[in-house]
Amino acid sequence: MSIRFDDRVAIVTGAGAGLGRCHALLLAARGARVVVNDPGGAVDGRGGAHAAADRVVEEIRAAGGQAVANYDSVADEQAAQRIVATATEAWGRLDILVNNAGILRDKAFNNLTMEDFRAVVDVHLMGTVYCTKAAWPVMRGQKYGRIVVTTSGSGTVGNFGQSNYGAAKTGVVGLINCLRFEGAKYNILTNAISPSAATRMTEGLLPPDMIPWMKPELVSPAVAYLASEDCKVSGQIIAATAGGYARVQYFVTEGVQFDPAEPVTPEMFADRFDQIGDLSTAQPYTGLMGNVERQLRAIGRIR
Ligand code: NAI
Repeated sequence: MSIRFDDRVAIVTGAGAGLGRCHALLLAARGARVVVNDPGGAVDGRGGAHAAADRVVEEIRAAGGQAVANYDSVADEQAAQRIVATATEAWGRLDILVNNAGILRDKAFNNLTMEDFRAVVDVHLMGTVYCTKAAWPVMRGQKYGRIVVTTSGSGTVGNFGQSNYGAAKTGVVGLINCLRFEGAKYNILTNAISPSAATRMTEGLLPPDMIPWMKPELVSPAVAYLASEDCKVSGQIIAATAGGYARVQYFVTEGVQFDPAEPVTPEMFADRFDQIGDLSTAQPYTGLMGNVERQLRAIGRIR
């Protein structure tokens, strides 16, 4: 099996550096025509320079690929429409959207300003929403689309000083979980990558002996697969770091079922708290109701 993107058009946001650059280079090397979006700027999102996107476009062209630059910020709704228009105006379609752009404004919640909270949510969550919203009608019209969002362990398991980032990064998972239902009919698949890599964003944060192995280009094969026609799954989260790949999934415990015809007191809940949290009974959490329907059926409250 060879995974190719001939005749496919892709947007990679934040593709001027780090992981986004590697995703763009790999997609282009496999035949995709790529919009390299990046306004440039520092890790905290301040400043900007066209050079970041231009350099990656040059790299792709030098290797014989096709790419155009776009310098808009994903955090602006109209600008996100321009990012999508860059693809459709250049090549008449859009098959792949990799929502990768990101910034950091780390601070303990106690010291974090709402401006810094909003700035991070605006780029990671709203930026993903704006770009996806702009891409959606194009992909629906084509009856084909592959959307990859970028989540983070900082949201899934938490991290000190990253409440803004963790909230935004988990928000994009809620987005793809819902869009997988809405996109299914149109062959639009929405999945998430949860990367970990040595980039400027993680400078000074990674265990030194891990750094040489945490190459950003080792995340891109997973992104390329999720962005490919071969990918048939939707709503999955794939963790990728240092050549290791795994699936991340919510689980729900068997829990405890009281009879809903009777009152439940806080003491009853407290008495069974350990059983409610007993992870040895956990199963993948796949339906809105969890285990409750089955359990209500078992005690004869529904049929
Ligand atoms: P990076 O800082 O090297 O790259 C991020 C890129 O996004 C930069 O080129 C930046 O200019 C661009 N960007 C920032 N604001 C933008 C905006 N408003 N519109 C468009 N582009 C914008 O960081 P890295 O590590 O490559 O991060 C890529 C993505 O992966 C981010 O979403 C990050 O949160 C996520 N991530 C990275 C991890 C890591 O270990 N490096 C861990 C978990 C998630």
